[in-house]
Amino acid sequence: MARKFFVGGNWKCNGTAEEVKKIVNTLNEAQVPSQDVVEVVVSPPYVFLPLVKSTLRPDFHVAAQNCWVKKGGAYTGEVSAEMLVNLDIPWVILGHSERRAILNETNEFVGDKVAYALAQGLKVIACVGETLEQREAGSTMDVVAAQTKAIADRVSDWTNVVIAYEPVWAIGTGKVASPAQAQEVHDELRKWLAKNVNADVAATTRIIYGGSVNGGNCKELGGQADVDGFLVGGASLKPEFIDIIKAAE
Ligand code: G3P
Repeated sequence: MARKFFVGGNWKCNGTAEEVKKIVNTLNEAQVPSQDVVEVVVSPPYVFLPLVKSTLRPDFHVAAQNCWVKKGGAYTGEVSAEMLVNLDIPWVILGHSERRAILNETNEFVGDKVAYALAQGLKVIACVGETLEQREAGSTMDVVAAQTKAIADRVSDWTNVVIAYEPVWAIGTGKVASPAQAQEVHDELRKWLAKNVNADVAATTRIIYGGSVNGGNCKELGGQADVDGFLVGGASLKPEFIDIIKAAE
């Protein structure tokens, strides 16, 4: 089963209106493979979503970096899934390790968010990944399986789910996982889906890698059998993001 390559750009809490316009201009001018080959989704901070959505080339798409866990209301500071749908924002990143760590988002809370966002019609990039301590303790797959189970317990239709494996120790550190390390976890994750969800979901769900991806390591990482693309942080703010998109070729 061919899975379309997926390249996400997580801009995190970065940018000014002028910087965002420059990034969008760079993306709009780039020569990249067609949508048949690669799906590109960029994720600016909430405040720049309308600007990026209205100026980005039509073959690229936008994602929010988070959304609230239920229908909007008296939740100061939150942005609801319904609001994203209302703005025609098709994707949302949920469960990023920075939110799990800094804001104490639990596996169950992330699972509830994923289920609610999907139910509102959003497509979800669901993030999982272990810390360095958990890896050194040999519990990588226990951690990633528990994170994925919290989603699988609440989601029945995986059509609009992309899983992003982002080892916390590789995020923003320059210590990228080796192709073998990434492939090992992606393979184990796909086997977990086959055993605990079903064979079709395992075969069709894109599992993408995130954590210090750059123009120099993307080709070898992307060449791994179970690496279906990337969720890129720092490098997505730079012109080398185009090279990472081209790794789909
Ligand atoms: O969501 C992607 C991000 O966590 C990866 O960050 O800067 O290591 O590419 P970075």
